[in-house]
Amino acid sequence: MEFKQALNEKINFINMHLNRYVPEKENYQSNIYRAMRYSLFAGGKRLRPVITIACCEIVGGNVNFAIPLACAIEMIHTYSLIHDDLPAMDNDDFRRGQLTNHKKFGEAIAILAGDALLNKAFEVAVDESIKNGVNLERAMKAISVIANASGSEGMIGGQVVDLEAENKEIDEQHLKYMHLHKTGALIIASAEAGAIIGGATEDELQALAEYSKNIGLAFQIQDDILDIEGDQEILGKPIGSDINNKKSTFVSLMGMDKSKAMVRDLTDKALDKLKIFPNREWFLAELANYLVNRRR
Ligand code: IPE
Ligand code: IPE
Ligand code: MG
Ligand code: MG
Ligand code: MG
Repeated sequence: MEFKQALNEKINFINMHLNRYVPEKENYQSNIYRAMRYSLFAGGKRLRPVITIACCEIVGGNVNFAIPLACAIEMIHTYSLIHDDLPAMDNDDFRRGQLTNHKKFGEAIAILAGDALLNKAFEVAVDESIKNGVNLERAMKAISVIANASGSEGMIGGQVVDLEAENKEIDEQHLKYMHLHKTGALIIASAEAGAIIGGATEDELQALAEYSKNIGLAFQIQDDILDIEGDQEILGKPIGSDINNKKSTFVSLMGMDKSKAMVRDLTDKALDKLKIFPNREWFLAELANYLVNRRR
């Protein structure tokens, strides 16, 4: 099967379940469901849930066991974007090709929509995993990994480092730490959750964690590159946000050429980690290569 076709099949599978897990609702607080769905269905790439599904598959697991976790991770990611765009954070007006959540619904509802997506994520991860008959010990472990990666030692920790590095020069180690946390952590957890629920061995789990760590760092460096060289129409979010906010990025520290070389180098390192999956690695390998040339 062609990579693009396989990718789209996974994305359709994820979207179908997200739509089921986060339906519209008519009650006094129906506006919160509108706001949650507005950002959730605005056309994200679904990279993280795709990784969860693919890592479950590569270790021989059933994708129906991974789908609640995959969708939970996409909800957490979407909440992080809603909050990242707020005036108190990056103050951006466009996301996923449309007005940011706070521009559309106001700041208070945007904050609450983010919070509600975060809570819904864990509700879905638990309830839908039970309904699908998963191994509960694996599910508990995977959910704990996701919670940790989203919190103060993971994504939120990285966002704090990002905000506190504005208007400052930080060194390469500090910058790498920031990227590995604000973006890497959830991408690593996406892989680990899929691997755990799929029944990975310790070696398989380790290999997929290292694959996704390299992909995750490369992904944020590419995000920094696209903030300068991207096309807003394709990217769906503003160009120049980092420069406006005087952010520390790989491009601001290392320059464009070195940043591009690092994306390629990290991708090669990621590909190397797939060697323990002979004949099964093609999708994750193609995915890594696809991300190097992404324009959105
Ligand atoms: C954007 O993530 C924020 C980063 C962590 C770089 P994505 O580039 O995956 O955004 P969507 O989900 O496709 O909108
Ligand atoms: C965002 O990093 C990371 C998270 C949302 C956790 P950025 O601030 O660079 O993401 P974009 O460029 O706004 O998507
Ligand atoms: Mg940010
Ligand atoms: Mg931002
Ligand atoms: Mg960015």
